[in-house]
Parts: sequence; C-alpha cells; structure tokens
Amino acid sequence: MDISGSSALIIGGAGGFGAATTRRLADAGAQVLIADMAEDKGTTLAKELGGSARFLKTDVLSEDSVAAAVAAAGETGPLRACIIVHGGPSAGARIIDRDGKRYSLGLFRRTVDIFLTGTFHVLAQAAEAMAATEPLADNQRGVIVTTASIAGFEGQVGQADYSAAKGGVIGLTLTAARDLSPLGVRVMCIAPGTFLTPAYRMAPEEAQAKWGPLVPNPKRMGDPDEYARLAAHIVENDFLNGTTIRIDGAQRFGLK
Ligand SMILES: NC(=O)c1ccc[n+]([C@@H]2O[C@H](COP(=O)([O-])OP(=O)(O)OC[C@H]3O[C@@H](n4cnc5c(N)ncnc54)[C@H](O)[C@@H]3O)[C@@H](O)[C@H]2O)c1
Repeated sequence: MDISGSSALIIGGAGGFGAATTRRLADAGAQVLIADMAEDKGTTLAKELGGSARFLKTDVLSEDSVAAAVAAAGETGPLRACIIVHGGPSAGARIIDRDGKRYSLGLFRRTVDIFLTGTFHVLAQAAEAMAATEPLADNQRGVIVTTASIAGFEGQVGQADYSAAKGGVIGLTLTAARDLSPLGVRVMCIAPGTFLTPAYRMAPEEAQAKWGPLVPNPKRMGDPDEYARLAAHIVENDFLNGTTIRIDGAQRFGLK
C-alpha cells in the first residue's frame, strides 16, 4: 500500500518507537497524527515535521480520547495506517514476593488495561474508520500494526502483568486479521527485543553497557529506527497479515 497522500495515526507517536515511526511515515508522504499523552514531545516533533504531522493529546485509557484521535487523523485524508506503540508504567514484581506478599490485582489490571485493552479499542476504532474509506487495489483499505514484546513469548521473573498483556496482543493478531479481512484491513504485530528508547530511563551508554551484551548479534540494543523501518515496510507490503514479527537480534529472554 502506498501511504502517500493518506493519513496515519500513531498512538504513542511521541515516544521512542513512535517518533521514529512518525518520521518514517511522514517521509513516505503520509499525513501523520501523533497521538500521545506527552504534550511537549508531541508538539515539538509535529513542529519539526512541519506540514506533514500534527499532535493531539490522547489517552488510550479513554474511549472518547481515542475516538477524537481517530476522527482527527481522518481530517487530512483517508486513514490507512494505525501504529499502536504507546508505553506506560509496569511496576513488575514476583506473583508472590520473597516476603510472601501477593502482586497487586490493581497493578495487574492497570498494565493489562494500558497495553492490551488500550490496544484493542484503538484497533477497533481505527478499523471502523478504515472500513468507511474507499478501497484501493485488491480491496485494501488499511493496516493496523500493534506492538507486543519478546516478553510476550518468554516473560521474565517479575513480569506477569506485562508478559500476559503482551501475550494477549500477540494472540489478538490473527483473530483481528481474520475478523477484519472482509473490510480489507490488515493486522500485524511487532515484538521488539531490547531497544534504546526513553522507556529505559537511563543514559544511553549505561543502557547499552547493561543490555547490549545480552543481544547475540548485533551485540547492542536496537535502534528505534530499526523498529520504524519494519513498521513502514509492513504498511507498504500488502501480503504481510495476521502474524507477529520478532525484531530482536536473536535475543531470547532468560529468567531475569
Ligand atoms: N524499548 C524497548 O526495548 C521495548 C521492547 C519491547 C516492547 N516495547 C514496547 O514498545 C512500546 C513503546 O515503547 P517505547 O520504548 O517507545 O516507550 P517510550 O516510553 O519511549 O514511549 C511510549 C510513549 O507512550 C506514551 N503513552 C504512555 N501512556 C499513554 C497513554 N495512556 N495514552 C497514550 N500514550 C501514552 C508516552 O507518553 C510515550 O511518549 C511499548 O508498548 C513497549 O512495551 C519496547
């Protein structure tokens, strides 16, 4: 699918992966709506990209906020791509810790709400908007790219909430692709390994020194643009549908 002249919605568009993907899709000629909670970062990025991007403060936990973002994206052209790549806190602890304390159900629910439920209702609302657009060749109307994690396959100790939510995002992929096939909407999922983004809240050298050596090849953390290039390729390639692609330098998480 050629995205030029169409609109793309990037949920979490001001974050590490999101900003890199915003730049790639704007470069490919899309009108990008950066939907994110981070107002400063989002408006700065939109300004940098001039006429090809706008920012709208958006919270995936609110249906109205997501609806406003989907509607705003549709103002600059038919919505053809939606990249769901927001982040958020995940406290993380063992299910029963060393003192015998159980993991908080409230924290578990919040992580699932942000990563899984948030992904689902963005996907559903974006698909609804795509369904109302004129079909392109091969009855194609649009593509939705979700973001899991390799922790969705091999969750580490203390990641029950995060790995369950990300496993849910992986599981959603094929069902959503099948459900949305009659509408000509594809659904793909990217499962990243360890990438150098602001999510680590560490100086880049410190993060590289800690995480880089754990990646088999290349022996470094991923660059957010490597995620963005994959997302842009998925948008472009109509035969990619219904599956999860790992992008991880052959890393497999161990216990910790
Ligand atoms: N960085 C990695 O190594 C890595 C690895 C695997 C998976 N991931 C996944 O990739 C996604 C993005 O990660 P990142 O590294 O770019 O993180 P990031 O912290 O750089 O960016 C996340 C963005 O999401 C926004 N956000 C947070 N809560 C939101 C909400 N309720 N509504 C809308 N936006 C919200 C933040 O403001 C931020 O701009 C996350 O789902 C994360 O789990 C990251």
